[in-house]
Amino acid sequence: MKKYAVGVIGATGMVGQRFVSLLDKHPWFNVVSLAASTRSAGKTYEEAVAGRWMMADAVPESVKNIVVKSAEKDIEAIAAEVDFVFSAVDMKKEEIAALEEAYAKAECPVVSNNSAHRWTPDVPMVVPEINPEHIAVIESQRKRLGTKRGFISVKSNCSLQSYIPALHPLKDEFGLNKVLVTTYQAISGAGKNFDTWPEMLDNVIPYIGGEEEKSEREPLKIWGKVEDGVIKTASSPLITAQCIRVPVLDGHMAAVFASFDKKPGLDVIKERWASFKGRAQELDLPSAPKQFLHYFEEDNRPQTKLDRMLENGMAVSIGRLREDTQYDVKFVCLSHNTLRGAAGGAVLMAELLCAEGYID
Ligand SMILES: NC(=O)c1ccc[n+]([C@@H]2O[C@H](COP(=O)([O-])OP(=O)(O)OC[C@H]3O[C@@H](n4cnc5c(N)ncnc54)[C@H](OP(=O)(O)O)[C@@H]3O)[C@@H](O)[C@H]2O)c1
Repeated sequence: MKKYAVGVIGATGMVGQRFVSLLDKHPWFNVVSLAASTRSAGKTYEEAVAGRWMMADAVPESVKNIVVKSAEKDIEAIAAEVDFVFSAVDMKKEEIAALEEAYAKAECPVVSNNSAHRWTPDVPMVVPEINPEHIAVIESQRKRLGTKRGFISVKSNCSLQSYIPALHPLKDEFGLNKVLVTTYQAISGAGKNFDTWPEMLDNVIPYIGGEEEKSEREPLKIWGKVEDGVIKTASSPLITAQCIRVPVLDGHMAAVFASFDKKPGLDVIKERWASFKGRAQELDLPSAPKQFLHYFEEDNRPQTKLDRMLENGMAVSIGRLREDTQYDVKFVCLSHNTLRGAAGGAVLMAELLCAEGYID
């Protein structure tokens, strides 16, 4: 099979490093171009990340000597040498939106981890197991941008990556109408570890800027429908969220309460989770977990440290399903925020876009 030539813009940052590390030895994708700010441009990748490489494995041999380009100044050169780019730059939102559009207009598809285009109506925000059909809006996006190949697709926020998959198989069949969720989010979600954020040791911070709005609103786009070349957001369920930063390195947990029009039995819910398969599993995409939703019967699971790496950090772990006195049911769930919730989820989306013919 042909290998796709891939670029990473924002390659020197925390999410960019995760992309580089995940893509090493990827069966379909070959990293050939790396870009960051002008502070890093002109250095080899190894020099540019010296002293700030945060991944467990060393800098991959295959990319060490790639000379980093400027993400803003070298757009044409990067577009010429890759089939598409992953975007993980950290700039002002308007600057990211403009930069990603510039790549798309240079006929270079963009698979983005950033929030800048999440609310652009013809930009798909895809969890491959949940709303793969949304990629159809790429055709109308291309018309708007005046491109043949170029487009932007985005990943949703990491906070919702555990509870939306758990609710999805129940939503239509039982009429999910109300959700209350509290998330317990890891510090890597802020691009930090305990060395760079020592104040988080022995501490909990009850505020993560912008996160509650994203946790409540983004599910409604994911559960929206493609109509007239744009994604029309869903009007239900009602979701209320509190997002809390906890002293954990990786792995966002969520405590979820949910109500339905027709209350399902607990065994029926567990059966729907066990049998759930999405497009990613049907297509057998390289990064897709074999079993997306894992239910643990033990009272003390899932645990962040024990379960976040399930299926290479791409699966969702669920536990403690029981009836509630105010909502119909309650449960907890967990997903790895920088793997499934960030770079891994974007790699899986890129695999879907390639498999479905949107990136040639
Ligand atoms: N951390 C997470 O888990 C997470 C999860 C979801 C989404 N995100 C989002 O992903 C993005 C990256 O996050 P991060 O934690 O990886 O940030 P980061 O570690 O600060 O890295 C930022 C990257 O952007 C580059 N950059 C900064 N200014 C630039 C400019 N003017 N032109 C071109 N490149 C520039 C940096 O290059 P230099 O090294 O040259 O400065 C670096 O490669 C952010 O928008 C963040 O909100 C992060």
